[in-house]
Amino acid sequence: MSSADSIDSVLKETRRFAPPPHFSTDAHLRSMEEYERMHRRSVERPEEFWAEVASELHWHQPWERVLDWNPPHAKWFVGAKTNIAYNCLDRHIERGLGEKTAILFEGEPGDTRRISFRELHEQVCRFANVLRAQGVKKGDRVTIYMPLVPELAVAVLACARIGAPHSVIFGGFSGQAIIDRVTDAESHIVITADGGWRRGKVVPLKQTVDEAAEKCDLIRKVIVLERVGAKHAAVTMKPGRDLWWHELMAGASAVCPAEAHDAEDMLFLLYTSGSTGKPKGILHTTGGYMVHTYLTARYIFDLKPDDVYWCSADVGWITGHSYVLYGVLANGVTTLMYEGAPNHPDWDRFWSIIARHKVTKFYTAPTAIRAFMREGRAHADKHDLSTLKLLGTVGEPINPEAWMWYHDVIGRGRCPIVDTWWQTETGGIMIAPIPGATHTKPGSATRPFFGVDAAVLDRSGAEQPPNSGGFLCIRKPWPGMLRGIYRDPERFVRQYWSEIEGVYFTGDSCRMDEDGYFWIMGRVDDVIKVAGHRLGTMEVESAIVSHDAVAEAAVVGVPHEIKGQAIAAFVTLVTGTKPSDALRDDISRHVATQLGALARPEQLRFTQALPKTRSGKIMRRLLREIATSGQVTGDTTTLEDFSVVARLAEKDEG
Ligand code: PRX
Repeated sequence: MSSADSIDSVLKETRRFAPPPHFSTDAHLRSMEEYERMHRRSVERPEEFWAEVASELHWHQPWERVLDWNPPHAKWFVGAKTNIAYNCLDRHIERGLGEKTAILFEGEPGDTRRISFRELHEQVCRFANVLRAQGVKKGDRVTIYMPLVPELAVAVLACARIGAPHSVIFGGFSGQAIIDRVTDAESHIVITADGGWRRGKVVPLKQTVDEAAEKCDLIRKVIVLERVGAKHAAVTMKPGRDLWWHELMAGASAVCPAEAHDAEDMLFLLYTSGSTGKPKGILHTTGGYMVHTYLTARYIFDLKPDDVYWCSADVGWITGHSYVLYGVLANGVTTLMYEGAPNHPDWDRFWSIIARHKVTKFYTAPTAIRAFMREGRAHADKHDLSTLKLLGTVGEPINPEAWMWYHDVIGRGRCPIVDTWWQTETGGIMIAPIPGATHTKPGSATRPFFGVDAAVLDRSGAEQPPNSGGFLCIRKPWPGMLRGIYRDPERFVRQYWSEIEGVYFTGDSCRMDEDGYFWIMGRVDDVIKVAGHRLGTMEVESAIVSHDAVAEAAVVGVPHEIKGQAIAAFVTLVTGTKPSDALRDDISRHVATQLGALARPEQLRFTQALPKTRSGKIMRRLLREIATSGQVTGDTTTLEDFSVVARLAEKDEG
């Protein structure tokens, strides 16, 4: 399907689904009128609204003011002190829920574990003491590079408990990605594992950390969890630097009172791609983020005490931070973690997990849904999915066809779908249905959440009439918003608050229909979403250019049936180097080593020159057209060298 086809199908989409009556009856919010009323109040009197929500949580000390807004700098719950780990653990134990399952874990090989709030609390306290014993103090950045196992949650929550900001790096990233992030964060300690399971193979995480540590002497301590065991991963422990998780835990006290942290203390950094060659450290703080993720999780997933909730995202992404861990645990709900691949040992793994663990709420990515769709419904039909009550999606636009498949085949027509729009920067969900209230339309994330003042604007900041495209912007601060880019305050202002005067610029294009529903069309900047994973064109280009044979490279995103978008790379070689299939493979492999397998280009073409404007800017629109259709149309009058276009369209040239 071409991008034009998919936009066409979204524009023609007129189906509408009322919340299933049986769902609405028991839901936290049951009607559109209720939603409208609450939304109006939340944007007209945000401080009153958010203070009420915040009072449901535990604070060591109350706030003096709910919000200080000096555009573009916001402080929420000013003067308040709290501890998010306390709110995710101790608060529930005190309510008598200590024996309730906090984490329901399934490893890829099939091993399962149930960890109660009491057990999780105990492990978090022990690990907090381990970190302290290793010299980690409040404010020190801790790097976490682990498989999706319960100890990852333990590490994250232990950091939060002692006020040491965590920087979680997705386990699919490479050694270079670790070096970049560790260096930017000036982090001295890395928590990792001997390996993790993926498609029946071991991902050698410790080995990757070793490679990074060899080139990066900032890394002074490495704590290693034994996940796969010596039989499957040979690990070399460097004396003085490397320590076993289990040995440290055995000697650690389980007593660690939750420290009171300022609401605006840094909770974590999460690196994400933007329009430069290096990822940026998105900075989130404690109080506002906690309140935002708590409330969104509660209303959008309609969380109830007996839910078994499963978000299939990795904790290496913001979705895992907010909706595998913090938002869900803050609500005292059981969160399921699955370590491995969706198609291991077969394509029914997810449905088998849902059936065996009686999952009630399931949150995944459109790219996964499209992959399941391709494999056919028989895999899902084999399993009893009747415990499911709600389905969610996140990360990229979902095409109506995939939405309908999800609705009919997985939800069996009974489950509302929440298509949730948000970003690493927003901390929590911003636009999504309230499942018991909102009528859904396949392909639309529907209406803004409470406290979110979203609008579709043009470059001048003027609001666009219904159904005309524009830039999605947020006009008022919200509690979970990023507080900055780590060590780059100027870039924070430039990237998010300067494109359009006075508002937060999301980087997404969007249209709002006549019912006030938002339809996200995709990025307008140099960000590509490959299978929902965010990559910057510049990052991939830098990785390609760092190959010895490459002189110049340009990367564009092209529509991909399953992944949503894929990477197409145009490469010019250094003089004297001959293009070949072997070289193409070698460059692709090089990108995977530099960034991680997810950045590997889908197409890689050699060219003698790249099409540029007179001012030297690469004409990406042309490259996109070439990569998508092999043809070039439209205006090329600003091209520096017209012949380049014709030559590129002829595909690879020698
Ligand atoms: O383009 C939008 C897309 O993902 C971007 C944010 O990416 P990231 O920071 O990696 O966070 C992803 C998970 C929250 C957005 O700018 N995006 C996210 N959710 C949706 C979406 N596009 C369309 N519909 C969505 N529901």
